[in-house]
Amino acid sequence: MNILLIGGGGREHALAWKITQSPLCTRLWVAPGNAGTSQLATNVAIGPLEFEKLGQLCIDHAIELVVVGPEVPLVKGIRDYFESVPALRSVLMVGPGAAGARLEGSKDFSKQFMLRHGIPTAAARTFQDHQLAEALSYLETCRLPIVLKADGLAAGKGVLICSTIEEARSGMTSMLGDKLFGDASARVLVEEFLSGIELSVFVLTDGSDYVLLPEAKDYKRIGEGDTGLNTGGMGAVSPVVFADETFMTKIRTRIIRPTIEALSKEGIPYKGFIFFGLINVDGEPYVIEYNARMGDPETEAVMTRIKGDLVEALVATAGGNLGKLKLDFYSHHAVTVMMVAGGYPGDYAKGYPINGLGQDHPAVVFHAGTRQKGTEVVTDGGRVIAVTGNGASLEQARQAAFQAASAIEWDGVYFRKDIGLDLQKLSTNS
Ligand code: AMP
Ligand code: GLY
Repeated sequence: MNILLIGGGGREHALAWKITQSPLCTRLWVAPGNAGTSQLATNVAIGPLEFEKLGQLCIDHAIELVVVGPEVPLVKGIRDYFESVPALRSVLMVGPGAAGARLEGSKDFSKQFMLRHGIPTAAARTFQDHQLAEALSYLETCRLPIVLKADGLAAGKGVLICSTIEEARSGMTSMLGDKLFGDASARVLVEEFLSGIELSVFVLTDGSDYVLLPEAKDYKRIGEGDTGLNTGGMGAVSPVVFADETFMTKIRTRIIRPTIEALSKEGIPYKGFIFFGLINVDGEPYVIEYNARMGDPETEAVMTRIKGDLVEALVATAGGNLGKLKLDFYSHHAVTVMMVAGGYPGDYAKGYPINGLGQDHPAVVFHAGTRQKGTEVVTDGGRVIAVTGNGASLEQARQAAFQAASAIEWDGVYFRKDIGLDLQKLSTNS
């Protein structure tokens, strides 16, 4: 079948890599894609929010399956648009409609949803923009650190963990009072701080059944030892040592199953990925956030652990018959190291030629922010290249990833050298 994948980052290169391995994939288009996806598929210069052009592309090329990578088109209703156009109604789509994507698009909605259905999460209170004074006095009653969250999408920047009351007051004032994130911070949640190790769990669901994908841990801060500014993600590891059978059973019975049943009870159809951002608090899982898509860079690790046919799973998801699907995984480890531009996550320049891509690497090399410029591949974003090493042990996977990362370079390149090290220590201690 002909397939369209929407997006242009490392997640989409990893999805494209796995999709094109399937005998079910006749031809893949990626909109807009990057220099990496252009080696596997046909890139088309259409943005993720150009619904009409994307729809026309599907009609022109008899595309039967659309896979939506990023959250913004989902939250803005790409599925609803396709369902409203008679010629597109029969196109299968992996990704929920706007109603289901609110799990990610509104933190207030998702918090109330979890509370309504008894899904474990941090306690929280929501304040609206006319309630600044009330919000500020409420902060005085909270225990530190205080977590502030913009309700809407803020490109990963909408969460402040405040260790002093002054920080919380000024964060609240700029978010709610000065609309730091525009409409996204017209509501702000004040949330209880949970202490533990985070992990990302992914499912494909058709709204009634689900398939659990390999779990992963991502590394959000720019600096080694989880220090410095937050980023879109500096690396990922799968599997996660503490996600043992007992812990995963808790996640399935207390979080995954109740979430899918709650969507159904509330009349919200959902065919797509659900990404559960979880935290392990003394052996008990809590939901930090839902996302309506796969994680980045977790996808770059997770895709290398799927043995079965991803396209078969995507078709079953979108077609509503996941119940019969069996998807196999590899037991090997995956370590993804994100290589970023100098200056990222602050200001950084683009357009530097990337050297070393053409060599044989002991790892899979995924492009994140890259662009083909004549015969050269040049940097085109903050997160530029994600290398994923696989191995029988975490250490072997780490070595493969770092060997590849050391062989790729451009002016200003930076990557964290400690990806997976914390989990390695955890597993030697346990
Ligand atoms: P989010 O955008 O919701 O993923 O939040 C970004 C990051 O903030 C999370 O990955 C956590 O590291 C942290 N975070 C969010 N909520 C909490 C919380 N209630 N307790 C502790 N850390 C949190
Ligand atoms: N890696 C976290 C995210 O994709 O949101």
